[in-house]
Amino acid sequence: MSHAQQQHVLAIAIVLALIVVCGIHVFLFPMYTSSPPARHTKIIAYEQALCRSSFKAIKITPAEWRNSCPKNGIVSAAQGGRLGNQIWEYASVWATARRTGLEPFMPRCILKTLEEHFVNLSIPPLSYIGKCTLGGSQIVNSLGQWNNTDQNIIIPRHAAYWSLILVWLDDVRREFTFKPSLRQYAEMILKRIANRFNIIEPTYVGIHVRRTDYVDYLWQKFKVKPAPVRYYLSAMNYFNSKYQNVVFVVASDSIAWCKYHLQSNQYKIEFVSDNGGHGVGKDLAVLSACNHSIIDYGTYGSFAAILAAGETVVYNVTAYFSTMIAEVLPNWRVIS
Ligand SMILES: *[C@@H]1O[C@H](CO)[C@@H](O)[C@H](O)[C@H]1NC(C)=O
Ligand SMILES: *[C@@H]1O[C@H](CO)[C@@H](O)[C@H](O)[C@H]1NC(C)=O
Ligand SMILES: *[C@@H]1O[C@H](CO)[C@@H](O)[C@H](O)[C@H]1NC(C)=O
Ligand SMILES: *[C@@H]1O[C@H](CO)[C@@H](O)[C@H](O)[C@H]1NC(C)=O
Repeated sequence: MSHAQQQHVLAIAIVLALIVVCGIHVFLFPMYTSSPPARHTKIIAYEQALCRSSFKAIKITPAEWRNSCPKNGIVSAAQGGRLGNQIWEYASVWATARRTGLEPFMPRCILKTLEEHFVNLSIPPLSYIGKCTLGGSQIVNSLGQWNNTDQNIIIPRHAAYWSLILVWLDDVRREFTFKPSLRQYAEMILKRIANRFNIIEPTYVGIHVRRTDYVDYLWQKFKVKPAPVRYYLSAMNYFNSKYQNVVFVVASDSIAWCKYHLQSNQYKIEFVSDNGGHGVGKDLAVLSACNHSIIDYGTYGSFAAILAAGETVVYNVTAYFSTMIAEVLPNWRVIS
């Protein structure tokens, strides 16, 4: 296929995917939560209801008192999950705002999670319009229900509007700019790995292995067993035969499992996560700085692969969101 044809096919694929999934949110965890009641509640109070745990009430600043209230509905989201989920919640709000023209605002709890790792996030906190009320206007939970610019869209927790997000991939990547300290950290780690193996022009392939609680979740939700060791090895084999000077950079919430199962003399492989899985931001920065990605499943790994923007191999889970992403993006492939 020519480049132009590929572009054309990609465009069609994206449009088809949008039609199919527009308004359907993929729940990464099984519960559906409806939004808390909002009528005539001040947004500053409503924000608290979107957050998992209570945070210190803040005063609306004089500058915020001067902010005008949105004329139309707004887009926001409820907080759920850890870093990976909250990144997708943010990205879902960002993309929904772009699609609808409504103004986006994030609850401060989600911003707090993200601002530990990213700079210059463009969406302001809900407290920015804290003095306003959501008033009598309706609240809907998805783009599919939204039919009027008066309506607010409050995206349920754990949502990942991936099909919408893929439409603006480059802009999404720009939105998630790591803090300079994390970028330097990632650069330093990768250089150190290259030095260790004494290679000049390495091809870094990030591997994210999701274990711990996700193993149960996969079984409960999809009746799927975790990816077998053989999956990671065939994915590694794929990259090793396709590229020169490949080094594998493994991050995981269970790095001990990886060291035990993936260690191999056949490949250059380095395990970067700490044992407790505490450095999620650091690991994400490292995975995102890699040239290509191997992921199994989960919000965290799939976003790392999106940020790395290289070729991505993903584990085959039927009707699972990262498998569906692989059907749309030409440089993603599914391996069983
Ligand atoms: C964040 O935005 C400020 C102001 O626009 C800019 O000066 C700064 O370079 C940005 N930081 C990064 C890391 O992009
Ligand atoms: C618009 O959406 C609201 C909320 O989902 C629904 O109750 C209403 O029937 C919709 N109106 C039309 C004309 O579709
Ligand atoms: C691979 O990734 C490294 C580290 O981010 C980067 O310096 C290098 O330019 C990338 N190589 C290619 C071919 O993109
Ligand atoms: C993924 O799994 C489904 C169902 O088992 C199967 O039909 C499909 O061929 C698999 N795809 C790949 C690329 O292995």
